[in-house]
Amino acid sequence: MWEKREDTIVHEVEPYNAEPSRAALDRALCTPIDTFYSRNHGPVPTIDASTWRLKVDGLVDHELELDLPRLKADFAHREVVATLQCAGARRADLVAIRDIPGEAPWGPCATSTARWAGVALADVLAAAGLQDAAAHVAFEAPDVSDHPTPPQCYGSSVTRRKAASPEVLLAWAMNGEPLPAVHGGPVRVVVPGWIGARSVKWVERVTARLDPSQNYFQQVAYRLLPADADPDHADLDRMPMLSSVALNSDTLVPAPASVVPAGPTEVSGYAYAGDDRSVIRVDVSIDRGQSWRQAELEQDAGDWAWCRWRTLIDLEPSATTVTVRAWDSTGAAQPDTAAALWNPKGYINNAWSHTTFDVEAQ
Ligand code: MTE
Repeated sequence: MWEKREDTIVHEVEPYNAEPSRAALDRALCTPIDTFYSRNHGPVPTIDASTWRLKVDGLVDHELELDLPRLKADFAHREVVATLQCAGARRADLVAIRDIPGEAPWGPCATSTARWAGVALADVLAAAGLQDAAAHVAFEAPDVSDHPTPPQCYGSSVTRRKAASPEVLLAWAMNGEPLPAVHGGPVRVVVPGWIGARSVKWVERVTARLDPSQNYFQQVAYRLLPADADPDHADLDRMPMLSSVALNSDTLVPAPASVVPAGPTEVSGYAYAGDDRSVIRVDVSIDRGQSWRQAELEQDAGDWAWCRWRTLIDLEPSATTVTVRAWDSTGAAQPDTAAALWNPKGYINNAWSHTTFDVEAQ
């Protein structure tokens, strides 16, 4: 489906929600399109690039209506290598603690990285004459989700500060290919360092506003609720709307429940710190965090990409658990237990990860 690899883990066929296997995700710094996770709240729309238009309106001096040739001709082209991560990534570990009905049990691979090409949203907003009063920039897309009642088109917003940052793109290509339909083609927003939900696919309207988008996916979904809240009756105004990605990491190889031969074994995975933070250290433990070794980091893909880590461990035959935690440039580390983070929508599980596999004598 959607030209994804055969070993893709499909959580839902319609709407299409799928993540790659750990081994496939581990292979490359930029995730190939056939491997990149996909998260959809409604059916993927088919949009003809030749009739697609982007409307820019709201608190701007002059409204714009841009077609694809004009977007490409009138603004400087930019490329950013950026990781997208779904706010529900690693929910499976929360579900294991207490069920989260109605939400897919995403693993760590609802996280992928691409080289995105397009124009800076900031340049388009500047051309429209963004007014001083604008504090938020909202995005609208045509795909209809039946999660809200009545069903609603997808939409979201970011703060003016983020919208005006040069890394935020209106992108028409990923990894050198035109953006495929399932990833938002012909044009999507890419908001590096923020939860994937803000990177609106199939964007058709950009509106400068006083307040955040009133769309269900900004106002209701993607808010962080306390563990004891009832999502249907919570006082949402008091619950934060998720924005930047939390510091996170996981092991990709070896996979959980796999069998590996004893001896020196490469263990690898990713770490990712959102927005203006970066990963400075990844610690790996084989005694559930009593002692740690530091992994080697590969982080030359710029400020907005994940950091891949690896380390060689001499493994003895037995059931083995690899525990991983990352540290960011503010000196913060991941929290240790997922139980302390459990929340009714299962967002932002960034607890230490534990990956258990069998090591067999050769
Ligand atoms: N944009 C639209 N229009 N509709 C959607 O359902 N899903 C969001 C975001 N943008 C979504 C959307 C979520 S929750 C995520 S995590 C990312 O798209 C996933 O992007 P991908 O499918 O390209 O991986």
